[in-house]
Amino acid sequence: MKLLIPLLLASLMVACGPNQTQTTTPIEYTETIALVQPALSEGLTINQALWLRASSRDYSTEPLTLEELSGVMWAAAGINRPENNHLTAPSAMALYPIRVYAFTPEGVYRYDEQSHSLLRVVEGDHRELSAAQEFAYSAPLNLVYIADMSRYEGLNLTAAKAEFLAGQDAAGYAENVNLYAAGHNLKAITRGSLKSAEVLTLLGLEKGHTVVLAQTVGK
Ligand SMILES: Cc1cc2nc3c(=O)[nH]c(=O)nc-3n(C[C@H](O)[C@H](O)[C@H](O)COP(=O)(O)O)c2cc1C
Repeated sequence: MKLLIPLLLASLMVACGPNQTQTTTPIEYTETIALVQPALSEGLTINQALWLRASSRDYSTEPLTLEELSGVMWAAAGINRPENNHLTAPSAMALYPIRVYAFTPEGVYRYDEQSHSLLRVVEGDHRELSAAQEFAYSAPLNLVYIADMSRYEGLNLTAAKAEFLAGQDAAGYAENVNLYAAGHNLKAITRGSLKSAEVLTLLGLEKGHTVVLAQTVGK
């Protein structure tokens, strides 16, 4: 009985689904993708999302809507306090070294939190570089978290400590996305596996940057 009640609650939440997004706009993969502002009243409660959060390794090719893509990017690294430009995710010493790259079927984009938009950095489908597991190659969105290690310069940190902190930051970004996904009827998984060297070469970030984490989001 103790276990039955939470299970019943969970199935009820899934059956009801999150509050539906009012509009569902298809994504146009232009040079700049202007993202929409998050609707704070949508989605499951944080407790419901926590209950449902799970890693998924099974994705369809169904695209995300612009509203879903916007919410995912905002959850990862969006500004939630414009007065000091701090983000939805915390960052050690507020250094914010993490850059979020979105690998889509039609290009690789960098998330610009100031304009809440995605800026195309490479054309074409490079999702296979952003993963090492087949389920990710055709999923609609793979995020790659890359640290700009210059942010740690002058702090007298060892390289290992700086990489540790960058990894901790990225894990926070990724968990925000996992919870956003769980609360909006999307699937997600945090991944450590990807083709890091090839990604850095593709993006021209061989110097001073480290790939710290990746993530798949889809349906
Ligand atoms: C830092 C990190 C890296 C991970 N890397 C991978 C990965 O490369 N491939 C994968 O299939 N799962 C990966 N996972 C997912 C874990 O395997 C998963 O969280 C674990 O099996 C527990 O399952 P759950 O997330 O559904 O609770 C990773 C998770 C974390 C936190």
